[in-house]
Amino acid sequence: MICYDEAHHIFKLDTPNTSYVFGLTDESYPGQIYYGKKIKDTDLGYLLREDERPQPPSILRREKAGYFDFYPMEYPSVGIGDARESCIGIRTMDGQEGLELRYRSHRIYAGKRPLEGLPATWDAASAAHSDASSDDVHTTGQKDKEAVQTAQTASCSCSTLEVTMEDEVTGLQVVLSYTAFEDVDAITRSVRVENGGERSVYLTKVLSACLHVEQENLEVLTLPGSWSRERQIQRQKLGYGSVVTESIRGISSHQDHPFMALVTENCTQTTGDVYAMNFVYSGNFLAKAMRDQFDQTRMVMGIHPDRFCWKLEPGESFQAPEAVLVYSDEGLGKMTRAFHRLYRNHLIRGYWKDRRRPVLINNWEATYFNFDTEKLLAIAREAAERGIEMLVVDDGWFGYRSNDDSSLGDWQVNEKKLPGGFTYLAQEVNKLGMKLGIWLEPEMVSEDSNLYREHPDWALQMNGRELGQARAQYVLDLSRPEVAEYVYGMIRDVLSSANIEYVKWDMNRLLSDVGNLTLPADRQGEIMHRYMLAVYGLQDRLTKDFPQLLLENCCSGGGRFDPGMLYYSPQIWCSDDTDAIERLSIQEGTQLLYPLSCIGAHVSICPNHGTGRVTPFETRGVVALSGTFGYELDITRLPDEEKDQIPGQVAHYKQFSHLIRNGEYYRIASWRENHLYDCFMVVSEDRTEALCTYVQVLSQINYKSRRIRLLGLDPDAYYSVTEVSLAETCAEIQGQTAGNEAAAGGGDSTERDGGDIAAADCGSAAAKKCYQGAALMYAGILMPRVMGDFQTRLLHIRKI
Ligand code: GLA
Repeated sequence: MICYDEAHHIFKLDTPNTSYVFGLTDESYPGQIYYGKKIKDTDLGYLLREDERPQPPSILRREKAGYFDFYPMEYPSVGIGDARESCIGIRTMDGQEGLELRYRSHRIYAGKRPLEGLPATWDAASAAHSDASSDDVHTTGQKDKEAVQTAQTASCSCSTLEVTMEDEVTGLQVVLSYTAFEDVDAITRSVRVENGGERSVYLTKVLSACLHVEQENLEVLTLPGSWSRERQIQRQKLGYGSVVTESIRGISSHQDHPFMALVTENCTQTTGDVYAMNFVYSGNFLAKAMRDQFDQTRMVMGIHPDRFCWKLEPGESFQAPEAVLVYSDEGLGKMTRAFHRLYRNHLIRGYWKDRRRPVLINNWEATYFNFDTEKLLAIAREAAERGIEMLVVDDGWFGYRSNDDSSLGDWQVNEKKLPGGFTYLAQEVNKLGMKLGIWLEPEMVSEDSNLYREHPDWALQMNGRELGQARAQYVLDLSRPEVAEYVYGMIRDVLSSANIEYVKWDMNRLLSDVGNLTLPADRQGEIMHRYMLAVYGLQDRLTKDFPQLLLENCCSGGGRFDPGMLYYSPQIWCSDDTDAIERLSIQEGTQLLYPLSCIGAHVSICPNHGTGRVTPFETRGVVALSGTFGYELDITRLPDEEKDQIPGQVAHYKQFSHLIRNGEYYRIASWRENHLYDCFMVVSEDRTEALCTYVQVLSQINYKSRRIRLLGLDPDAYYSVTEVSLAETCAEIQGQTAGNEAAAGGGDSTERDGGDIAAADCGSAAAKKCYQGAALMYAGILMPRVMGDFQTRLLHIRKI
C-alpha cells in the first residue's frame, strides 16, 4: 500500500513487513527518511533534520549548497552542491551541468505500468488499471489538505507512486516511479526524464535508484567473478569513501553483477539488517555505496554513466530501467526469499513460467564442433531410453563452422553435417519421443562469414579504427534498426523451418569498438543502451511469435545472468564451469538472488573438462538438481554404471521439480565459507515438504557426525526425514522396466526413499518415526558420516 500524508508531506510505501518513507521540505526537495521494518506512523518528517545547519558557527542561516551536501536527497542531481554520487547529470546546450529538482505533483494508482521497451516486474491484474484517472494527481497547491491519500489496490498485487519533479531553468521533468508489492517485501523504482523545455539537453547520467542508510558498521556485499567463476559472494567493510561494482562491457558481465547490498556487520543468513538493490538491466551498470563525512551511507544504482550520453530533444523522454529494493531484518535468507518470490511471481513470464522444464541433453561438451546427424541421433537414442526429454544441438550446425573462426551470422544449416537439416533431425528426434532444441548466437558475426563479407559496416566499429576481435568474432550493431530486423528474420526462418522447441541464445564477447556509422556525433553515446534495447526488442518479438518456445539465455556461461534477461527467458545458463564442486559456490551466489527454477545446471563427464576433477556421478546429479537439470556429455561413451544412474536422477528431478521450482530457499552452510561442506534446503510454501541437499566436499578422519539445523519448517508440525537413495530409485525403475510396467523416468512421482535418517544415526532418537519441526530446526539432525570426498546426501522431509 502507498499513502501520502498531506498534512506532513510524507510518502509512505508499505509491503507486508517493510516501510519506505520520504518527505518534502518546505522548499519541495524530496528527502529520504526511512527504509526498514514496517511502521504505522507517517509523521516522520522530523528525521529530515531541516533545522540542522552543519555550518561554521558564524553562519546562522541555512545555505542551499552546503545543505545539499548533507541532505538525504531522494534523487540527487549534479552541480548544485551535493558532492556525493548523484543520480542525474545533464549538459545544456550552453555546456553547463546543473539541475535542481523540486517536487511538482504526484499520483498514486493501483497496479503497475510496463516500462516501454524494457524488462520490468509486472502485476497480472494491472492491465485493467493501467490508466490512472486524472483525479488522483496531486500538485504542490494541494499540499495543505488534511487527508491521507492511499491507493486502492483492488485486485492488483501492488500499487504505484509517480512523483514528478522539475528543474525550473531547463524545464526538465523527472518522474520517479515506485511500486510497492502486496505479496512480497520488495519495492521497485524507475525514472523517466522528460524534456519539457524549449532546448535540447544531453543526459549524461540517469541512475534508477538511490538509498540512504543511517547505520554505522555496514559492510557491502557484491557478486564479483570471472568466466567460469561467476557471482562469488564478497563482503567488505564500508569505510569512508566508496565501494563500486560496475560493468562497462556492454553486458552485465561475469566480472561484476548488477547487485549490491549493505549489510550490518555480523549479518548472517538469519540475523542482521540487509538493504539490497538489484538492477533489471543487462548492459552497463554502476552500483556504488559511499560513506560520507557525517557517517551517512548512500547507495545508488543505474546505467553506467561512462559511455552514456543521450540527447533529449524538446518533448522527448528517456526511460531508465528498473531497480529492485529489498530490505530484510532477518539476514540474507529473508532477502533471498523476497527476491525469489518477486522474480518467480512478478518477473518470469510465459508458457514455461510454472511448468516443469524438459530434461535436456546438450552436445557441447559431448562433441564440441565435431558432430553430424548420426552422432546426434546416437546420443538422442540412448538419452531417450533413459528418460531424457530433449536434445539440444549446440554451436557448429550452421555455415561451415568447424571451430570458433567462422560462420557466425550465416544461420543456414550445414547440410554436410546435418543432411535434411533440422526438418529431418526434428522428425527423427520427435520419433524418439524427444523435443529438439538449438543454439544460436544472433548478436554476433564472424569475419569469415557471408554476412560480414556482404555487410562489413554492420559490425560495431569506429571510423578508421581496426576492429578488435574477441573469440574470433565481432558484435553486430543492433542499434541500427535494419541490422536488428535482418537478425530477427534469420532467427524466425530457422525456427520456422522445423519443430524446434527450445533455443539457447548465446552471446560470447564484450562490446568494444562501440561506434556507429549512421548516428550523428552527438548521439554516439547512445549506442550501448540502444544496443540493449534492440536485444530486448528481438527477444520480445521472439517470445511473442513463438509463445511456447523455451528460451534459455546464455553469455559465455553466466555473463548476462540478470533480471533483465530473466524477463524474456525463464532460465539462464549459469556458468560454463560444470564441475560439481566449483558449481557449489557459483550456484550459491546465483541462488542468493535468483530462484532455482531459472538456474541452468547440467551433469557433465569426469575428469571435468575445465578442472580435471573427478567426482561421483551421483554428486554431479545432486548438484545439477538444484537448477534446471540436464546433461552435457556423450552418453554413448558413458560407462554403464553411470548410464544406469540416469533414470534415477531423472526420476528425482521430476519428483522434486515442484519443490525446486516453487520452494522457499534456505541456506544452511556454505562450502565457500567452511571449506568442508555445503548444505541448503527448499521448503514448500505450506511447509509440508522439503528437500535438503548436503554435499560433503572434503572428508575428515576422527571427526563426529555433523549436526545440521534445518530451517523453514513449521515448529509445531511433525515430519518424517528420509534419505533419498539414488541406488534404490534406480533399482526400482529397472524393476519396473523389466516388468514392463512403466517407462524409465516416467511419471512425476517415482519416489523411493532410503532409511529414516535420524533412525540410522541418532542413537536414542532411532525409535522415533517422526520429529517435531522445532526439534529439527533448533536441535537439528545428525548427518550420517560418509567416507570420501565429494559425497552427497539428499533428505526428503515430509509433514506427517
Ligand atoms: C558458450 C556457452 C557454451 C557453449 C559455447 C559454444 O561458451 O556458454 O555453453 O554453448 O558457447 O560456443
